[in-house]
Amino acid sequence: MTLRADLAQSVQALKHGFAPYLDGPRDVPLYPAMAYALEGGKAIRGHLVLLSAQLYDVPRAQALYPAMAVEAIHAYSLVHDDLPAMDDDDLRRGRPTVHKVWDEASAILVGDALQSTAYEILLDPQGAIPAARVVDLAQSLAKASTQMVLGQMRDIAMETRQNASLDDIITMQRGKTGALIEWSSCAGARLAGQDPQALRTYAAAIGLAFQVADDILDVEGDAAVTGKRVDKDAGAGKGTFVSHLGLEAAKTRARDLVDEACSALDEFGAAAAPLCDVARFIIERES
Ligand code: IPE
Ligand code: IPE
Ligand code: MG
Ligand code: MG
Ligand code: MG
Repeated sequence: MTLRADLAQSVQALKHGFAPYLDGPRDVPLYPAMAYALEGGKAIRGHLVLLSAQLYDVPRAQALYPAMAVEAIHAYSLVHDDLPAMDDDDLRRGRPTVHKVWDEASAILVGDALQSTAYEILLDPQGAIPAARVVDLAQSLAKASTQMVLGQMRDIAMETRQNASLDDIITMQRGKTGALIEWSSCAGARLAGQDPQALRTYAAAIGLAFQVADDILDVEGDAAVTGKRVDKDAGAGKGTFVSHLGLEAAKTRARDLVDEACSALDEFGAAAAPLCDVARFIIERES
């Protein structure tokens, strides 16, 4: 199967998995807005959890729980990222952002509830994940989420600081986009009770490549395809991989990072091919 078909299958599995957690009161729009925020993404992080689990022969039925958990954290981060106090964006995944469909207070609360739901899902005994592994997954996800928030705060701080160096941008990225991608890539090892170290080099490289690609899309992408506003970083005079390296060098860097990511998986042999496909997809994507 092609990666796109695989991703579409993960999207469906996640959607199906989320349904019971979204079945709440309808007198206020919390649950419908949570469902809205969870829809329409590429599900790269959830897919990474499922693929890394496959690498360690962990049953898919178990891996679906951490896959949903990270997608819920990611969705919360996007709802808050788009708020007027942060990036002030009206478009996400090709649709109006949560605070546009509802209002700001609702979007803040939707983010809050997506975050708590992530742990409700991860700790769900239906997942049948051995308790010690659930503790490890939950603790490491909480840490990764805080690192993501740290990166978000650094990102905002850098908007008013025009002299950010490439190292500052890399440090910021490691939190903002790197932390959840790393957690997702390593989740399979944690599920199997194995040391996730083997996947960390891969994860660090694709996390960085992911943000380089996001910065390139901000410059070269088309909002009709990316589903989100473009030209916002350059428009805000923000330091990005593209503003530092230039477009061509940023593309070369992204390709080098993908090679680095794939080589880091050599020890897994052919079984790692799907993860290598994800690495390539991350820089070839148009949205
Ligand atoms: C977008 O992430 C936000 C960043 C972390 C840069 P994705 O490109 O994975 O977003 P969705 O989930 O597919 O919409
Ligand atoms: C958002 O980064 C990252 C998180 C939500 C953690 P960006 O602000 O660059 O993402 P987009 O471009 O809005 O998707
Ligand atoms: Mg942002
Ligand atoms: Mg943003
Ligand atoms: Mg961006």
